[in-house]
Amino acid sequence: MALYAIGDTHLSLNTPKPMDVFGGNWVGYVDKLRAGFEIVRPEDTVVLCGDLSWGMSLEESKKDFQFLNDLPGRKVILKGNHDYWWMTASKMNRFFQDNGFQFELLHNCCRLYGDVALCGTRGWFLDEEKGGHNEKMRNREVMRLEASLKAAGDREKLVFLHYPPLYQGYRCPEILEVLKRYQVKRCFFGHLHGHSIRLAIEGVQEGTCFSLVSADSLNFIPKKILD
Ligand SMILES: [Fe+2]
Ligand SMILES: [Fe+2]
Repeated sequence: MALYAIGDTHLSLNTPKPMDVFGGNWVGYVDKLRAGFEIVRPEDTVVLCGDLSWGMSLEESKKDFQFLNDLPGRKVILKGNHDYWWMTASKMNRFFQDNGFQFELLHNCCRLYGDVALCGTRGWFLDEEKGGHNEKMRNREVMRLEASLKAAGDREKLVFLHYPPLYQGYRCPEILEVLKRYQVKRCFFGHLHGHSIRLAIEGVQEGTCFSLVSADSLNFIPKKILD
């Protein structure tokens, strides 16, 4: 049994979308993902850190969900900034159930991997969230993260976000404070692609070890986190 993470599958099987805007590494990315998942066994768990599908609705994303569902392993999913299909948990769960998809939402809750709690939420990224409700939206994400960590109780906690809570030239103090208060030792995030990968800050910062798991930064091979 092993735990893996990968973000940003950015599937668009319903209406093929050119992905070379993210860099040449994305050419043939669907095949690369399928090959990358060959290391995952059926009994393993994979956390998918957002930006799963370009679909604008659950129906439009159906082929993408089918692709992900058919890959090996149990899938825990969280929301990215491009997941416009994301709806209420009850609507998504009903849709997944009706279509035979087995995804576990990581949203205001935690999921268990043995004795370890998998916590997380979309997170916050200042530059891309301009507008009148910045503070409100950020606070909502901080609350979601905290609700997820609280649900974990005394268990060891791993945190999965879509947005990096820090990268070169930016930090989100409110999210970092929560990670510190809950003594989160490891935090994984996606969102950074192509040339932006070099902006990622990885390694230990204030007691938490940060790792980027966007698909192209991993060459489309899920990152093993725990055995
Ligand atoms: Fe992305
Ligand atoms: Fe993103």
